[in-house]
Amino acid sequence: FYAHTISPVCIAFVYTVVMFVFIASIHPLLGVLALFSWAAAGIALPVLTSHFAADTGERVRESSAQLSTAVLDSLCGLSETIRYDDGERRMAYMEEKTDLLLEAQEEEKYIAGRNMATASLLISIFDVMMIICGIALYQRGAVKFDGVLVSSIAMMSSFGPVTALAALGSTLQNTFAAAGRVLDILDEAPVTEDITGKEPAVCGEINAEDVSFSYEEEEILRNLSMRIQEHRITGITGRSGSGKSTFLKLLMRFWQPQKGTIEIAGRNINTINTSELRNMESYLTQDTFLFSDSIRNNLKIAKPDASDEEIETACRKASVHEWIMSLPLGYDTPAGELGDRLSEGEKQRIGLARAFLHDAPVILLDEPASNLDSLNEGIILKSLREEAAGKTVVLISHRPSSIRIADDTFTVENGRLS
Ligand SMILES: Nc1ncnc2c1ncn2[C@@H]1O[C@H](COP(=O)(O)OP(=O)(O)O)[C@@H](O)[C@H]1O
Ligand SMILES: [Mg+2]
Repeated sequence: FYAHTISPVCIAFVYTVVMFVFIASIHPLLGVLALFSWAAAGIALPVLTSHFAADTGERVRESSAQLSTAVLDSLCGLSETIRYDDGERRMAYMEEKTDLLLEAQEEEKYIAGRNMATASLLISIFDVMMIICGIALYQRGAVKFDGVLVSSIAMMSSFGPVTALAALGSTLQNTFAAAGRVLDILDEAPVTEDITGKEPAVCGEINAEDVSFSYEEEEILRNLSMRIQEHRITGITGRSGSGKSTFLKLLMRFWQPQKGTIEIAGRNINTINTSELRNMESYLTQDTFLFSDSIRNNLKIAKPDASDEEIETACRKASVHEWIMSLPLGYDTPAGELGDRLSEGEKQRIGLARAFLHDAPVILLDEPASNLDSLNEGIILKSLREEAAGKTVVLISHRPSSIRIADDTFTVENGRLS
């Protein structure tokens, strides 16, 4: 800031004073003319043009802020986006914001260019006026010829600092460099490659066979085998750090086991198209992220073409419809503005509604109620119990109260079943 704002101001000021004294010493009239032209080029013109440019600058800042929000939101909600395979829509949304910014930037550049041309023209006019004045004074014998020459040259070379001052406003470059860095993160290679072009798959029993997995050195899962039967609730319990969440992530193919196989209806999930796998599985964790968008659009990420009835049905099943209707704008209430009115329980119920709306045959839940009081836990479990008919549910929890609703229960200890 100091280097780019304070120093040009000081330089322009000192330089102008020195130049003024110098030109005025040749002839006072020339000094006054110089002072007047600096004031016109350095103060009057920028003030006038900034009046016109203010609108564009505002738009650039506005769309830049919108893009930042969109990017930040997308980063925070990356996991939600991947789960529901909503990446393309999210990307299109960010591209739209990027285009808005580019448009505003383009216009800003155009205006900056026009200002520059106006300034140059003005400066040339003043230079010519200086020469004409100099010659007039010379003809009357008021100044010597070299005085005219020196003052004209001094005048021509004196606008640098003044125009630098006038150009101050247009240093938004840094902001865009910052946005560029964030976009780079999004280009990072995924851990598992998306699978496409395979035969359509059917859903059925999930069978993990002799699975071993480690993120780095340490083995998290060791020769784990588990049969998750169709249309039942399978509970997985065990101490924290025993590898329960990791197992679910393998079922989602966020990671791949180093050893062993995971099959759905007898087919290795490594041979199932990623988008199909995402449609087969809904995944809910203990924190639900809400994008800064309306509640309706937050639900729609699970099913972009969902009708209002479908959304309402899902919310009724998740016992959150009544609460949403109690909000001032109902389903159109911006989630970002709820703040304190949105409790952890309500957020989880919105997450559950999302999972129900996704309408996948398999629902994976990783400690969905562990941040909730027993009242909210009860609500979630009841919704789950009712929705479970005809679905395959995998429920991770360390709470006996949650695990009680399971038809089958496994306990994981140190990466193995016990
Ligand atoms: N992305 C990761 N990279 C490296 N280690 C991880 C990662 N995620 C989890 N772990 C480690 O794996 C172990 C099992 O974690 P997790 O599956 O979350 O257990 P649980 O859900 O049973 O509490 C923990 O020791 C944890 O530190
Ligand atoms: Mg866990």
